[in-house]
Amino acid sequence: MSDPRPSLPEHGSDWPSLRERMRSLGSHDADWRRARTAVYVFNAGEDVLQVAKEAYALYQSENALGPMAFPSLRQMEDDVVGMGLSLLHAPEGARGSMTSGGTESILLAVKACREEARARGLDTTDAEIVAPYSVHPAFDKAARYLGLRVVRIPVAADLRADVDAMARAIGPRTLMLVGSAPCFPYGLVDPIAELSTLALERELWLHVDACVGGYFAPFARMNGVAVPPFDFELQGVRSISADLHKYGYVAKGASTILHRSEAQWQHQTFTFDDWPAGGMMTPTLAGTRPGGAIASAWAVLHYLGVEGYREKARIVCETRERLMTAIRAMDGLCTYGDPQLGLFTYGSTTLDPFAIWGQMARRGWFTGLTTEPRAIHLMLSPAHADVVDEYLDDLRASVAAVAATGEAAGDTKARYA
Ligand SMILES: Cc1ncc(COP(=O)(O)O)c(C=O)c1O
Repeated sequence: MSDPRPSLPEHGSDWPSLRERMRSLGSHDADWRRARTAVYVFNAGEDVLQVAKEAYALYQSENALGPMAFPSLRQMEDDVVGMGLSLLHAPEGARGSMTSGGTESILLAVKACREEARARGLDTTDAEIVAPYSVHPAFDKAARYLGLRVVRIPVAADLRADVDAMARAIGPRTLMLVGSAPCFPYGLVDPIAELSTLALERELWLHVDACVGGYFAPFARMNGVAVPPFDFELQGVRSISADLHKYGYVAKGASTILHRSEAQWQHQTFTFDDWPAGGMMTPTLAGTRPGGAIASAWAVLHYLGVEGYREKARIVCETRERLMTAIRAMDGLCTYGDPQLGLFTYGSTTLDPFAIWGQMARRGWFTGLTTEPRAIHLMLSPAHADVVDEYLDDLRASVAAVAATGEAAGDTKARYA
């Protein structure tokens, strides 16, 4: 038996053979290039992928830790953040940063909120974030890192945040309220306007997690989709996380954290000078920050422009509607809530959705699941427009296969959970 722990090879290999080995390593991965996955990857087409890749490669060695050495990256980050602030109706004086992803953006929002409270003389030990049950675990991660606590409140019957219940959960230790636009599990936009009013009334920091919708919902709205207000146009919204590496279609490692004011943004930064190499100020969690991620974001935003993003949003919304309509027409299947963007969930009143998911996985479709309710979760990309019919054919076959084995709703948890 070979040693399970690999060691660095004594001699180097040639790149073509390494590339071959790497390709073969990926041969069992989810087949996102053929749009067989509806989670983890956002595929807006070969041309966008190419721009993202080439732009990344152009700046892959540059380091945004050194904006004086690389004014190019400073300029590109300022441009990208500026575009995010404008799209999301930020007021004059708002400020933001690019980060490595949604989790980092959320962590920085929570940190800024905590530091701001401390600056007001509050004791933040075990301070609380009141959030709907559907918010991303990144808030729990941030809370755990920063010594806070998330209080998750069950969602309302429409699967969106229950604002009255959240109001009742606010206590003396509450610092932050959260709503999602949309939340990951159901793809639904929480009632952010009501949360904004509540935040203003109770003088709390409202963070909107638009990691999924930040670079999608504005374009869907421009296309006429009735997405309710969710961004800085609501006065109670203090910060927004919006990921570029999701529906911005840029290379991974790119998100934005946006603050209503410069003063808020200052609370997310870190400064230190008590060591032998001079003062250090970092606006985000990272030290070294990959130039490639910033360059890729800058390039794709310019490549697509408003027109391009509107077209991608139109394709995704249309694909979602086609899928939802066909799924609802299938015997025993149902969809959940009233999703308006690129995500939705569907399940069954008679068959176990996890069993159907298993059948679909055997047919090569790799998608997500939700547990409450038990449902199949799809996060759609423009590339899915080309595979709707194939997906539905396989779904009909999968439903028939599950019905034939008599796997009823709820009785296959051990097998598929
Ligand atoms: C709503 C929402 N917030 C935050 C995140 C975390 O983003 P990331 O995986 O980029 O850290 C996700 C990821 O899917 C998400 O869907």
